Amino acid sequence: MTGPKIAPSLLAADFAKLADEVARVEESADWLHLDIMDGHFVPNISFGIPVIAALRPHTKLYFDCHLMTTNPDAFVEELSAAGVDLVTMHIEAIPDPVPAIERAKGHNLDIGLVLNPGTPATAVEPFLDVIDLVLVMSVEPGFGGQAFIPDVLGKVEKLRESVEKQGLATDIEIDGGITPDNVGRAAEAGANVFVAGTAIFGADDPAKAVEELRRTIEEK
Ligand code: DX5
Ligand code: ZN
Repeated sequence: MTGPKIAPSLLAADFAKLADEVARVEESADWLHLDIMDGHFVPNISFGIPVIAALRPHTKLYFDCHLMTTNPDAFVEELSAAGVDLVTMHIEAIPDPVPAIERAKGHNLDIGLVLNPGTPATAVEPFLDVIDLVLVMSVEPGFGGQAFIPDVLGKVEKLRESVEKQGLATDIEIDGGITPDNVGRAAEAGANVFVAGTAIFGADDPAKAVEELRRTIEEK
């Protein structure tokens, strides 16, 4: 496990000026969380791979691409060419993720598996030793600005315990409704990567909002 990382979600940024929005968190954030939605796996459409490719030359941030699509493994090659660093795929969309994991690694991508709020930790536990990260959704995927579901913290604890028990370095990321009020609890439960959209890009000063989240985590 690496130290705590803050990943602003571009979904909450002003889409009319994406490069400027990213520049506002360039120095304070660790990762940039990029939500791709297909209107099929989730009932919403966001932005696609060409948008990510267009942003790549404008930032050095690590690109964390959360695929909310069916057939996520079909996009691995294109995502790699677009300059994505990490791709995360929903276990609900690929019950046998091993071929997709191998394909992602073959294209030099870090790979993570995502769990919806209702999906148990056991769905990804068999793969913890072959992936880089587990993403625990703390809202139903599809929309920003929803309320954090505290029930998922037990799952974060369980996954952290499994990771530690096996002596792995697998990161545990949490996504959905993260604010300074709940980020400390998420860190305590064992998350070490924190996605926040509204709490960062909805703030007057996004860089300050990143720092506030970081401070809260460090003080926990
Ligand atoms: C929801 C997305 C999240 C979203 C988080 O489907 O996966 O990444 O952007 O936004 P907030 O922080 O506003 O809940
Ligand atoms: Zn996301």
